[in-house]
Amino acid sequence: MNLANRDLVSIDDLSNGEIEALFSLADKMSDSTDEQSGLCRGKIMASLFFEPSTRTKLSFEAGMLRLGGSVISAADIGASSLAKGESIADMAKVVGSYADIIVIRHPWEGAAKVVADYAGIPVINAGDGSHEHPTQTLCDLYTIRKERQTIRGLRIALWGDLKRGRTVHSLIYALARFDATILFCPGPGLEMPVHVLRRLSTEYGGEVKSCRDLNQELETGPYPVDAIYRTPSSPHQLAMLPDISMQVELNAGVDALYVTRLQKERQGPATKEQELNKGYPVVDKKLLRGKGFRKALVMHPLPRVDELAYELDADPRSMYFKQAAYGVPVRMALVALLLGVKEITIPGEDDCFAPKAPYPVYARDSGVKCPNMNCVSNQETEAKYIKPAFAIVSRAPLTLRCIYCDYELYPRYIASSEWHQGKVENKKYHSASSRFARNIKLENLIVFTSEEEAQAQQFKPSSYVSQ
Ligand code: NCD
Repeated sequence: MNLANRDLVSIDDLSNGEIEALFSLADKMSDSTDEQSGLCRGKIMASLFFEPSTRTKLSFEAGMLRLGGSVISAADIGASSLAKGESIADMAKVVGSYADIIVIRHPWEGAAKVVADYAGIPVINAGDGSHEHPTQTLCDLYTIRKERQTIRGLRIALWGDLKRGRTVHSLIYALARFDATILFCPGPGLEMPVHVLRRLSTEYGGEVKSCRDLNQELETGPYPVDAIYRTPSSPHQLAMLPDISMQVELNAGVDALYVTRLQKERQGPATKEQELNKGYPVVDKKLLRGKGFRKALVMHPLPRVDELAYELDADPRSMYFKQAAYGVPVRMALVALLLGVKEITIPGEDDCFAPKAPYPVYARDSGVKCPNMNCVSNQETEAKYIKPAFAIVSRAPLTLRCIYCDYELYPRYIASSEWHQGKVENKKYHSASSRFARNIKLENLIVFTSEEEAQAQQFKPSSYVSQ
């Protein structure tokens, strides 16, 4: 199979079979690094890191050099024309004419998608705000596969900043696709975003059970477990276990404990930050003595700060430096595939995963904006050419998902662009949950987040407003 000219913006851009075949290629790459040195001769990678990076940037660049290619880079935003107010789209078009492949890290959610939309060459997302970091997920899964010989059916505990850690966002989608059971162990106030949890249950099947939903006191003992996700293929369904004990779940054992640092740079004001720091869960020797961690791989995308004790470095369960080292063969395989200098054979039938295709898209010139202020669609330089656009993922309740950052919006009022008999007095808006609202054809749909918004566009309330 040829992956030439594809982008990797989200982990869902690769099917399960493609991921597994990519790993087989990475095995070959690491067994015979010297033999790969002619593969990308004459090819140029543009390495655009507008946020700090050590592992991701250097392993991409080392990988490209080992493939015989060359690397050009923009050091940071301050050293590029983005600092002069240039849009990401213009930058992407220009860099797309200089290089053969782009690797981009940017602080705005959705920035990598915009680069992919405009560059005209393959684009790899090396982290876009707190949205996704798909190549870190490839390194994580590759490490587990090396240690456990499989990436299917795992039990994984995700630990720390689940709210803003982009590595865990990409990782859970992939884990869910490979039939994992996931235990969420967030720091206080750092729970997995609702839109991510919702997407897990609506798109990947399975079930999310949260302590908060159960209206229980957190019976977590020393572990901050907050919710569990089970795939449909796991042996029992949570619905049948209403009195599920989180403590018991962890004690039952996990294959890996995936630790993340507090994403300080994405937090609000300093005082709040200090509060979060206070209760941030630490992984150390004492914690790992727990029954459930006996065979657990201890993973971390790095850099670590205080959440992972140095005393664990000599523990055979610690995997974090291996994860970083595997970054080179994994990214070599990915770059070679997207540049079309290597092909892969997918073993058996590929269990393809294509969640994005079926949704109709909502995009109008005026009206709703993405609720995420850090979304690329809400930035002054980008709003000149980006029209906010949303996948309509459900009509009841009406749910729109931003195509750039995946944040969800639940508009409360809607109207039809074809008002009755074209008479202005029939220009009415309705409650989005009313039965009438569901009759409006998708192509005519206009959504509003408030009545004021509807009235500002000269719509009047219909009798279906309060329903
Ligand atoms: C991660 C990142 O940048 O999101 N680091 C990495 O790429 N290895 C994790 C982090 O910064 O916390």
